[in-house]
Amino acid sequence: MFAAIALTSLAVGCGSSTSHASVPVDSLGMAVLTDTNPDPNVVEVQLVASLSVAHYLANNSTDVWAYRDGAIDGSVGSVPGPRLVAKRGDDVIVHFKNELPDATTVHWHGLRLPVASDGSTSSQAPVPPGGTFDYRFKVMDSGTFWFHPHVRGYEQIERGLYAALVVSGDEDLDVTADRTFIVDDVKVTAEGPLAFDGDKLDMMVGKQGNVLLLNGQHGGTIVIDSGGRQRWRFVNSANGRYFNLRVADHPFVVVGSDGGLLPRSYTADTLLIAPGERYEVIVSFDDAEGAHASLETIYYNRGHELPDQGPRVLADIVVGPHAGRALRPLPTVLRSIDPLPITASTVVKRFTLQENENGAADGPTFSINDQMWPSNPPVMVKQGDLEIWEVVSTKEMDHPFHLHGMYFQVLGADGKPDTSRGWKDTINIVRGTSARLAVRYDPLGMWMFHCHILEHAERGMMGDLMVMK
Ligand code: C2O
Ligand code: CU
Repeated sequence: MFAAIALTSLAVGCGSSTSHASVPVDSLGMAVLTDTNPDPNVVEVQLVASLSVAHYLANNSTDVWAYRDGAIDGSVGSVPGPRLVAKRGDDVIVHFKNELPDATTVHWHGLRLPVASDGSTSSQAPVPPGGTFDYRFKVMDSGTFWFHPHVRGYEQIERGLYAALVVSGDEDLDVTADRTFIVDDVKVTAEGPLAFDGDKLDMMVGKQGNVLLLNGQHGGTIVIDSGGRQRWRFVNSANGRYFNLRVADHPFVVVGSDGGLLPRSYTADTLLIAPGERYEVIVSFDDAEGAHASLETIYYNRGHELPDQGPRVLADIVVGPHAGRALRPLPTVLRSIDPLPITASTVVKRFTLQENENGAADGPTFSINDQMWPSNPPVMVKQGDLEIWEVVSTKEMDHPFHLHGMYFQVLGADGKPDTSRGWKDTINIVRGTSARLAVRYDPLGMWMFHCHILEHAERGMMGDLMVMK
């Protein structure tokens, strides 16, 4: 299924395509962490956070913090880091080592797992420089997830610490390639280094990068087989940028979101992905070999009067040789999801997301229900209880709201769970509106919820959720 690599070798090995001066080479494959455990149902990897160098700009290099594969001697950290791949039901053991000059953790965004392995600062002490930590969990859901630090994320994720986690087990969709794309932006100076310049607008809206990245590359190439149909799994790892993706004349068939497949696919010309969210789409190309297209992001008005910068290209798409086989039709029904059984008497908890333009000397601050992390007390709940979270954005800005360790269902206009949106762990709360989420508290322990605009989380818009017996 991990056809990014197969595709590259296909393109390289296809010497018969002599009508072209050069066969296009796909530049956007990602390495996979080495599984050192012979048991087919156990994935055991060595993940190292280390210093490395990226080449975001053509003529300069950028010092980054990046994950590398500790099972490979002399491996070098990459942005994004190598993917972790497993199949549903696998036991995963991650031996983590910190080679950074700073303490860090690894949070497994979107996974249901034991709290001891959640990797937040509410579930563990940060791993000091030179330190190690073992994360252990069973992957219970197929889908697209990601991992990143939970210590000053606005800085550590921006520095390059993020990678995808893909859990297979739902491959009934007949595709010619299954690919993972992480969209991001970075703010770099002309000389190459990342800019940490204390810009107040960056604190207000999340750091606005000046270089857009797809799998850590600016201006990469995606090769898609003519007549092919690819599954693209998108993750947004940006501090604050919303991506509104499109490929002109090639609508996306959206098949999945945060918690795996949707009940039914739907077609969309554009795909909005807020920070932290994931979406899976199917893209088909009937164009002849040699045709070109672009993966672009277009304006989405997320508030604060951020200007429209026009369409911006994330990658070139080049149509390669024909896929060479017929594809089975895509099913429209993908899975079934039972609505959570809320009633008129289900308890409603209200979370109001607030911003305070002049909250601190160095810039704005953020709060939830007038309280700021880390001094806010945890929200205490009982395991097994089903409640509604009403999350409100009163001000002039959207906030992507994320809950650790469990999924929720978004309620529709009729007040009932809208299962067509699938299971979510991150949802964009549009400015001036609210969303109602049905949450069943499951694993015991101290979980976190926060805005996934990383500057907002760090500057107060975060809280703890204590699930008790
Ligand atoms: Cu992706 Cu608490 O985070
Ligand atoms: Cu926010």
